[in-house]
Order: sequence, then structure tokens, then C-alpha cells
Amino acid sequence: MKKIAVLLGDGCGVEIVESAIRVLDKVSNVYNLNLEYDYAPIGGRAYKEAGVPLPDKTVETCLKSDAVLLGAVGDWQYDSLAPELRPERALLGIRKKLNLFANLRPVKVFDELLNSSPLKPTIAKDVDIMIVRELTGDVYFGEPKGIIKKTTADNREIRVGFNNMIYDEDEITRIAHVAFKAAQKRRKKVCCVDKANVLDVSRLFREVVAQVAKQYPDVELTNMYVDNCAMQLVLNPKQFDVILTGNIFGDILSDEASTIAGSLGMLPSASMSDGKTPFLYEPIHGSAPDLAGKNVVNPIATILSASMMLEYSFDEKLAANSINKAIKAVLKENNRTKDIYETGLNLCSTTKITDLIIDKIS
Ligand code: IPM
Ligand code: MG
Repeated sequence: MKKIAVLLGDGCGVEIVESAIRVLDKVSNVYNLNLEYDYAPIGGRAYKEAGVPLPDKTVETCLKSDAVLLGAVGDWQYDSLAPELRPERALLGIRKKLNLFANLRPVKVFDELLNSSPLKPTIAKDVDIMIVRELTGDVYFGEPKGIIKKTTADNREIRVGFNNMIYDEDEITRIAHVAFKAAQKRRKKVCCVDKANVLDVSRLFREVVAQVAKQYPDVELTNMYVDNCAMQLVLNPKQFDVILTGNIFGDILSDEASTIAGSLGMLPSASMSDGKTPFLYEPIHGSAPDLAGKNVVNPIATILSASMMLEYSFDEKLAANSINKAIKAVLKENNRTKDIYETGLNLCSTTKITDLIIDKIS
């Protein structure tokens, strides 16, 4: 039996995870996977129920499971809460508690969606990038941080906000190994993305990555500044195989890269630890409160995340592939949710496209 902790979260998280679970149930039947689900609240929902966005019980449920499937967190109604009570804090909290330092965000463009990409089809075709984003360090967690008061030279009291962009050698080393190992299974190229022309922390990042690279002579290492990378991603995305980068740069670049694939609603992710704690799978998009509950959001990013779970946590490659193939077949037959819809194709609701995917799994 494989136990999956299910964290629906807020907004459209509920619908997309429900879709992914229906797909998992079908795959489980076909491939005899014996999956069991354990639901726990996170984000705004948890705040409403328990007064905190990440209750201890939710963390315990995750720690007791073999993998975690998460929808999305956040809703405008919680925007005025104190920072430590906001839903987003739960996401950072669970990443830290489960030691999920490696976030894998594959950007793969389906041929069927080339028209949905804002890039020319010739540029977007065959793009296949793996963004390896460090997930438990950087300005996201660096201390000291805060908003404090200071007195200016002309004696005015003003506020100053600050965060600390910080990485130690151990943190850089372990994420670098993840990137090089991922590259070995792919096209054997790692591009280390940083801002080493300005930031000390980036200079160290680059140095340590180059050290680790010596253990992977079969992998080619290149370096790129993050501003250039943002440009290259739209100019010539096919040049990239694995992009290795820190937490904040990875956050920004992965949203940008998702547009190449046609929609934020298409990109899954896997967050991995050293293996002592369960991995977590979630779409890279947010909770889309404006679209939630309307049965219109694209569940494919979450279904692909479930597929990554079968592959990475349960070593069920065949079952994972059956999901990927089913998605491709459904797109090939011109079925589209609203975010990837083009005139003349079949407009599908969240539940409809899920049904079609389930039908194709065998
Ligand atoms: C992501 C999201 C999160 C992040 C937010 C919601 C805290 O943007 O997973 O990319 O910044 O990591
Ligand atoms: Mg993000």
C-alpha cells in the first residue's frame, strides 16, 4: 500500500486535486497500485479550521505518508492577515518541514499546444527544459529579515524593509548534485543561472557548482546571468537542458518558462528531499481564486504532478507514462480547457477534460 497525503488547499486547489485523484484511481486500478489517501488542511482552509495555515497535524500526516499531493494555497480574503498567518506561509513551512530542498519543474511543450504559446512555433517546438530550483534557502528563508524603523540624515523616521539572500556551501552542493544527476538522465547539460556579476552569494553559488561539476565529467556546465537567462528563455529556449538556480530566480524563471508551454496550467513540479522525508508534488500555478469553483481551470498541471509522483516516489514508470500518453491523446483530439482554447476546438470544463483523460488510460 502507498499512502498519499492530500492537501487540497484553497481556491481551485480543490478541483484540480480532485481531478488528479480520479486519474490516480483509474491508474491504480489498471496497474494495481493500491493507493490510499489521507486528507489534511493547509493554507486559508487550515487557518479557518485551526487558526494557523499549517497545523502540526497536517505536517504529521505528511511525515507519515509516502508522498504528498498538494493543490494550491491563497485567497484574497486572507490578504490582510499577519504574514505568519497567510496561506503562502504554509507552503514555505511544509517545504522546510519536509526538507524539500530540490524543486524540479519540467517545461515540456506539447506539439498540440504550439499555437497556445506566445512564442513562434519554430521557437517553442521541442522545448524540453528541467528547471532545478533550490527550494529551502535564499531570500525566502534568510535571516535577518523584517521591516524596521530608521532615522534619516535629515531626522525623519522612515521604515526600511530587508531580506537576506544567503546560501552556504552545503546547500549549494546538494542542489548541484540533483541538477547534475538529472542532466545525466537527459541531454547532459547544466546551465547554472545566477547574478555573480553583482552578488557575493551568487559568486559562491557559481564556484561551488563548478567544484561539484568535476564529479560529473560527462555533463557540460555553462553559466548564465539571470537577466540574460530571462531573455534567452524567449529568444532561444531550446538551448537549455537543465537550468540550475536558487530559490527566487527559479520562482521567477519557471513562471516565465511556463508560458512557452502554452499555459501556467500545464506545468507540474516535484519537490524532493534527501529521501528521509516524503516528496511533495504540486502544480507550479497558484489557487486562481477568481476562477475557483467554476469548473473551468486546467487540471493538467496537477495530473502531471501526480504522474511525477508515480515515477519519482513509487518508481511506477509505466503507470506514469500511461497518464502522460493519455493527456497527449486528449490534446491531440483537440480537447482544451479555457486557458489553452483556440476557436474551433472542443472547449472542456475541468471535469470533462479529466473524464477524457481517464477514458484514455489503459
Ligand atoms: C511557487 C509559488 C510560491 C513560491 C508562492 C505561492 C509562495 O510562487 O511555488 O512558485 O514563491 O515559491
Ligand atoms: Mg512561483
